[in-house]
Amino acid sequence: MLPRDTNALGTIFGGVILSHIDLAGGVAAAREARRHFVTRAMREVEFIAPVYVGDVVSFYTSLQRRGTTSLTIRVEVEAERFNEPGHNVQVTAAEVVYVAIDEAGKPLSVR
Ligand SMILES: CC(C)(COP(=O)(O)OP(=O)(O)OC[C@H]1O[C@@H](n2cnc3c(N)ncnc32)[C@H](O)[C@@H]1OP(=O)(O)O)[C@@H](O)C(=O)NCCC(=O)NCCS
Repeated sequence: MLPRDTNALGTIFGGVILSHIDLAGGVAAAREARRHFVTRAMREVEFIAPVYVGDVVSFYTSLQRRGTTSLTIRVEVEAERFNEPGHNVQVTAAEVVYVAIDEAGKPLSVR
């Protein structure tokens, strides 16, 4: 994480992490089905620990649910502290629902 991603307190802005969560989940969804996906919902994101400049942040994904037109991807976020290499802390976790859409923007089967 770089200084450009900080909030007024000097820690990393939560919206930056949310953006990366959305990207990581989107990559996972695209690996599950060759479709175009849009983000339909992001469930309960609680920030448990702050992220600091210089931390290395990792996003781990897993498929939670395959619906008819949607995939629910769980994204777990960890930060490796800049000053403590090898020491990871859990930052947050989220469930993100992606819906496959066709060219008209209508939901499409993911099966
Ligand atoms: C995604 C979109 C095409 C879905 O259209 P829709 O008419 O709501 O479609 P449906 O009601 O048939 O729902 C589609 C799927 O989403 C799921 N879904 C709908 N609302 C949901 C919610 N609040 N939470 C979780 N899943 C939800 C439905 O269960 C369904 O999944 P399934 O087919 O696997 O059962 C439409 O809502 C849309 O375009 N949203 C904007 C997406 C977007 O632009 N995202 C980026 C924001 S910047």
